[in-house]
Amino acid sequence: MTMDKTIAVGADHAGFELKTLLVEHLKENGYDVQDVGTHSEESVDYPDYAAKVAKTVASRRAGQGILVCGSGLGVAIAANKIDGVRAVTANTAELARLSRLHNDANVLAVGARIIEPGTAKEIVDSWLQTEYEGGRHQRRVDKITRLENGK
Ligand code: RB5
Repeated sequence: MTMDKTIAVGADHAGFELKTLLVEHLKENGYDVQDVGTHSEESVDYPDYAAKVAKTVASRRAGQGILVCGSGLGVAIAANKIDGVRAVTANTAELARLSRLHNDANVLAVGARIIEPGTAKEIVDSWLQTEYEGGRHQRRVDKITRLENGK
């Protein structure tokens, strides 16, 4: 079952504090949040949390996913290993918007060591409020999906 208003959220230790703020922000805006951790600043490995969010989105237990690490880079690289996931690092609101419009990105990654919390909230809002445009972009997104099957 697709749960479009459900957002899976995860972070490593570097992203923990920003994740906490984003979870609060999402709840205030009416989203159901599935927080997969981490739940402290104790050092962990970002691929573990990226995989949890990516698998939650790929299996449609959440409509979209948000990941936070220091840069936003490692979690996106890891999340993209899961079939069905199109994860992007977007440390500006414009990139977040374009990733929805053109790429139908279903996982957003941000870097807690790169952006301020206020900017992160703007990025998340822009990403969640932008609909995929479809049309000419669908053929290209379909080609990305075919790469998962080695075609
Ligand atoms: C952790 O120090 C850091 O490497 C991680 O949060 C992330 O930025 C990796 O891409």
